[in-house]
Amino acid sequence: MFNYKYLLQVFCFGIILVVQKTMQNTTLCTFPPGFKFGTATSAYQIEGAWNVSGKTPSIWDFATHNNFESIIDRSNGDIACDSYNQIDVDIANLQLLNVSFYRFSISWTRLLPNAGNNFINPDGVRYYNEVIDKLIAHNIDPMVTIFHWDLPQSLQDLGGWTNKLTIEYYLQFARTCFSLFGDRVKTWITFNEISMYCVSAYDKKSLAPFASLSGIGTYLCAHYMLLAHGRAYRIYKKDFIHQKGIVGLSIDSPWYFPATNTANDKMAAMRAIITGFDWLAHPIFSQTGDYPLFMRKRIDYNSKQQGFKESRLPRFTTKEKAILQGSADFLGLNHYTSKLASMPMSEKASEMTSYEIDRSFDISFDPKWPKSARNHFKVVPQGLRKLLLYIRDTYNNPIVYITENGYAGDHSEYIDDHDRVSYTNLYLTEILKAIVIDKCNVTKYTSWSFMDNFEWHDGYTLRFGMFHVDFNDPKRKRTPKKSMYAYRNIIRFGTLPRCLSFEKSI
Ligand code: BGC
Repeated sequence: MFNYKYLLQVFCFGIILVVQKTMQNTTLCTFPPGFKFGTATSAYQIEGAWNVSGKTPSIWDFATHNNFESIIDRSNGDIACDSYNQIDVDIANLQLLNVSFYRFSISWTRLLPNAGNNFINPDGVRYYNEVIDKLIAHNIDPMVTIFHWDLPQSLQDLGGWTNKLTIEYYLQFARTCFSLFGDRVKTWITFNEISMYCVSAYDKKSLAPFASLSGIGTYLCAHYMLLAHGRAYRIYKKDFIHQKGIVGLSIDSPWYFPATNTANDKMAAMRAIITGFDWLAHPIFSQTGDYPLFMRKRIDYNSKQQGFKESRLPRFTTKEKAILQGSADFLGLNHYTSKLASMPMSEKASEMTSYEIDRSFDISFDPKWPKSARNHFKVVPQGLRKLLLYIRDTYNNPIVYITENGYAGDHSEYIDDHDRVSYTNLYLTEILKAIVIDKCNVTKYTSWSFMDNFEWHDGYTLRFGMFHVDFNDPKRKRTPKKSMYAYRNIIRFGTLPRCLSFEKSI
């Protein structure tokens, strides 16, 4: 006899599946209410006006003028995007993009030209007040990075971030920013990418100050920056709490997939994350206030083998650990790409001191990963979801702001930047999965970059912007690219393009 009951059960089950699938599809289309989209730049990369109205040289002014062979096209940021003179154009473009917030940085030597004394440059105050006031007048929240790599050259002459004194100078700078602008700026990023800065400056010699102190300067630099971060956070909480803002930092990290399924390569991938991301995140977001144990042991051991009396990885005092532990209201994550990690044939050890040797793993790339104009920036969106999961599980699901994510085009790119449109969609899809399925606490996304700009040692040979900038035009004309329109739609509807029927016609 025909079993109606069974048929009904199958039918109901089918309905449930369809409803579940539809619900999942809609939740995987739309960002949660309150999720915010923004875009970012940094002072040296866009402002220009390197020596006007009292501004003194930063390490980037110095390097590009005196060490210009370090920059691929021998260019500099003397004019860059001329943003110092084009506040209104920039604000109009931000408005066109429809962002909720704009992340930019403050040029230390524009605000405090004589780092070390208390002179505040009125023109610096005027300029940043104007930027902030105009942003707010247009309903765009300022998200301010205090230090985005442009250290005063006068402090570099004293040893820069390898000199403990720089912490005190930085705190004076941070305090000045809080007190001048904190009535309107409610989101502060103390440091941009400590590891990129310190490793590139001291190990790879690919960013200013292009110094040679590998495996020593690298750790000192990060150690003092971490301490400066922790103390700036505590200063804000003690003296500026009435401003009701939040303070965090931006940590850069790729994701590392094991090159093969072997236990060794899995271990190599873990090493890569621990000695990269966790190096900076662990002291702040773990319960210990200290470096990861793996780094402690490994660098202590290597240092001893190399005949050092003290470990090349400095130690925090108990008081310093207490300052660092929990010293961030959010974790800013700058993420562009992923890599493959494998275990080297034999442990890397050498008489030479080097961060890379301390990390001891090999890097490669999956040939199937799509390329970008920067060799080692492949398009691997699934890596971002993995990294977000790792953060959730390792650090008790902190609030994460993606403070940078973007695609490198080359100098020939104009406005048809399909690859950037696709990159942004793919990475945002993974972020949405991380939020909806994995319950990661990601609440903000920042595209890098608002417009093409001076790309550090790559000069103007790479373009990351959603607005094209004509660097041959004295007016530095900005033109929206396809990605500007595509991102604007995502922001407007809070929805991924594949879920918008009209998107294909854009
Ligand atoms: C930096 C930006 C830079 C971007 C692209 C990040 O590491 O914070 O200043 O332009 O990467 O290279």
